[in-house]
Amino acid sequence: MKSNKNQPNIFVIFGGTGDLNWRKITPALYNLFLDNWLPDQFTIIGTGRTKLSNDDFRAKLLEGINQFSRSGKADPEQWKKFSDNVIYQPADLNDAETYTAFGNLIKQYEEAWKLEANVIYYLAVSPQFFPIIAENISKSKLAENPEKTRIVIEKPFGHDLESAKSLNKLLQGIFQEKQIYRIDHYLGKETVQNILTFRFANSLLEPLWNRNYIEHIQISVTEQLGVADRGDYYEGAGALRDMIQNHILQLLCLVAMEIPVNFDADEIRNKKVDVLNAMRRFSADNIKNSAVRGQYGKGWIEGKEVPGYRQEKNVNPESNTETFAAVKFFVDNWRWQGVPFYVRTGKRLHQSASVITIQFKDVPHPVFPEEATESWQQNRLIISIQPEMSIRLQVQAKRPGVDMVINTVDMVFDYKGTYSNQAPEAYETLILDTMQGDQTLFMRADQVEAAWALIMPILNVWETKKSSKFPSYSADSWGPEVAEALIAKDGFHWFTLPLKQDQK
Ligand code: BG6
Repeated sequence: MKSNKNQPNIFVIFGGTGDLNWRKITPALYNLFLDNWLPDQFTIIGTGRTKLSNDDFRAKLLEGINQFSRSGKADPEQWKKFSDNVIYQPADLNDAETYTAFGNLIKQYEEAWKLEANVIYYLAVSPQFFPIIAENISKSKLAENPEKTRIVIEKPFGHDLESAKSLNKLLQGIFQEKQIYRIDHYLGKETVQNILTFRFANSLLEPLWNRNYIEHIQISVTEQLGVADRGDYYEGAGALRDMIQNHILQLLCLVAMEIPVNFDADEIRNKKVDVLNAMRRFSADNIKNSAVRGQYGKGWIEGKEVPGYRQEKNVNPESNTETFAAVKFFVDNWRWQGVPFYVRTGKRLHQSASVITIQFKDVPHPVFPEEATESWQQNRLIISIQPEMSIRLQVQAKRPGVDMVINTVDMVFDYKGTYSNQAPEAYETLILDTMQGDQTLFMRADQVEAAWALIMPILNVWETKKSSKFPSYSADSWGPEVAEALIAKDGFHWFTLPLKQDQK
């Protein structure tokens, strides 16, 4: 379903006045425009409940670009050219008239261009509106041509397995799967895309990439920020739903998947869903050995006092929602049998960093004298996704000197030192892929459901059993003690990356 760049494009952004559009979607579209990726004929129709003039809407978007775009403040001339293609259409999402108006607008543009446009309906709204928008698009016959119309669904995709299934059912009753783009913005990150290149474009890794050489794997996505003003969303979500069900399991799939035969979207997605299907199921009675949770209390971060989760805006003062989760997974197949995958994520932690660490097994027999190996460390491959963007292989080397001392050194591929061009933002990649009809970096229905199915037993136990220990970690820490215990009982510890000066 690849489209060519010269086809006109119409973006209908539901949630046009929302935060996501302001911070991410429009800055991404603007950067695509600057880099000449948008077709000559394009229109962005922002929608929202508020009544706004085109000029007011544009002014608000410009503010967002100036604040959040990777290319910095907008150049007035370029902004003028871009924003001439942006309009605002107030919308009542429940009202059929709204959709008739979109249909008329689309028709007007197509008549002016004398070409049928690709139309992308971007649902950057709260998930309760997904069904009503999809149904109205269908009733108003706005998605009749499956080759030309696409729908982009932001997360969260479902609240649990049942709701994800019924949303899939509803969408698939209206659209073909090739029209549905379920976003997981982690998949658009440059460093995340590179995992597959690194694994499958280098012959030296594959022989080692299995249970014979790898001891364990860690995926750590830690954040310094708290929930800020997203308390009402987060109360119904929690760390397991917010980060593990989607982003972290996707990272795990990229690390664990088998070698695809080619780079076709469905081939890649088949291999990823195979991982989810091979993952060991949890049963209610073994969950406490495999999954732990935590909630942040108040504390200090970088000299500033910060509230505990229960004191945040729109949060229940007795909330049972976890702001930290760590889980030990296994992938039960030939490649990974017996290799634990430890994942952790949390808010208000000591450092913001997303890092995958592959720890290799130790050498089979010690050759060196004990005094030479005091700082001995097994080989590690560290894929640093953000803020540092690098891949480093930690190996042992002899320190220069007359005596034999072995220490750990890094072989580093660092984006900053290697490339001079700026990496695109995840949203740029994902929006361009949507325009071009490439679904490789989007979630297919079966993937989303398989990920929900895996974590449901944990969610069920955590929701029914209130934690008596919350709040259980303080701001600026590495999370609750139970997380240390989860990994320590297997003889390991969580790895952290030393931050570079400019990332502090
Ligand atoms: C979102 C979560 O999906 O990802 C947020 O809802 C989280 O809670 C964010 O902060 C993290 O994304 P990034 O790109 O900043 O790592």
